[in-house]
Amino acid sequence: MACESDAQSPSYMLEAAFRAMEPVSSFISLARQTGGGSLTEEIQSIILNIVIETSMQSGIRCNHTYVKNLLKKVIVAAESNYNIVVEGLYEQFANIALVQDNVNSDDNNKIFKMISFLFPCYAMNLHVHLHCSLNMLEGDTGCALWPSSLLLSEVILSYPKLFKDKVCFEVGSGVGLVGIALAHVGASKIILTDGDTSSIKNMKYNLELNHLNSEKVSCKYLPWESASESELTYCNPDFLLGADIIYDPKCLPHLVRVLCILLKQKKQFVFKSADTHQEIALQCDDRKEDLVLEELDAPVAYIANVIRNKETFDNFLLLAEEAQLSVMDITEKRRPMNLLPYMLSFDRKSVRLLRVLYKSE
Ligand SMILES: C[S@@+](CC[C@H](N)C(=O)[O-])C[C@H]1O[C@@H](n2cnc3c(N)ncnc32)[C@H](O)[C@@H]1O
Repeated sequence: MACESDAQSPSYMLEAAFRAMEPVSSFISLARQTGGGSLTEEIQSIILNIVIETSMQSGIRCNHTYVKNLLKKVIVAAESNYNIVVEGLYEQFANIALVQDNVNSDDNNKIFKMISFLFPCYAMNLHVHLHCSLNMLEGDTGCALWPSSLLLSEVILSYPKLFKDKVCFEVGSGVGLVGIALAHVGASKIILTDGDTSSIKNMKYNLELNHLNSEKVSCKYLPWESASESELTYCNPDFLLGADIIYDPKCLPHLVRVLCILLKQKKQFVFKSADTHQEIALQCDDRKEDLVLEELDAPVAYIANVIRNKETFDNFLLLAEEAQLSVMDITEKRRPMNLLPYMLSFDRKSVRLLRVLYKSE
């Protein structure tokens, strides 16, 4: 398929930033960058069109408080730069200013974002719809979107072959973005887990929004404190994933115990067909000479995390060491493509990527 070249055209980037509900200051910086340093009339017209078109599309639910704020700041930024302000911007702002803000503060915190992963080839772009909260603490932090899941999703989408046809198990999945990226690259089975019930409910909703069925991607309530060995080992994952899960000192011993059980699973031996190398569920009457015994690799964990508190992170490393886990920082080695070039608020340098393995004797 031919690649269209406008994947990162100014209007495409600004639209992606608008739909991802980038903070207004980041959106204006992007608009300025796009306009060669100022909010030219052309850039203002692009913004106006994006706002008008988006509000007219029925499937898109935009938060009018955000739109009102954005239009106001665009006008102020253009005026203070002595740019001519495009007439329609005032009109659009006046229209939206008449709409009353949502008075229910709980609902007001809930937003719909569209996170667009932009590939060099337009046809490969992935648009993920997410229902999430503006309150970072809602649902024990699991209803908000965190930067590490953006980076981990970029890693997954940048190295699709690594995860294709693999069983993946995520801990502390929150809004479910990583699971959606795994489904996109063809992981065979995806198990998303979280210890907060409202986050699980929201995650399920997000999977529906992105048309993912529960056979391929399942959600499971799994608090680290009480997760039993059988709950963790039943699915024999190839990969274990986690984004922004190392932050609460109280939870660390439980998290390390969970990682250890998942990663410690003994290497599996499975019978595969000598011809096709497909795994075979062994029946008594199978001819053993047609089969080969193959060793499966032990699971590997990829954890993306922002180190907000060095003491907490060092404590995680210490507990991991005591539990025979080897933790390697592979941020540079597995550097992903920049698939979110419009997201100026995303500080990808703040996220570390760790590979965790169980040290076999
Ligand atoms: C900072 S959020 C990150 C969410 C998501 N991975 C992301 O990056 O957007 C941490 C997640 O870990 C979950 N979590 C925290 N403590 C937990 C525990 N003890 N057991 C299971 N999940 C827990 C929270 O519910 C939340 O979803």
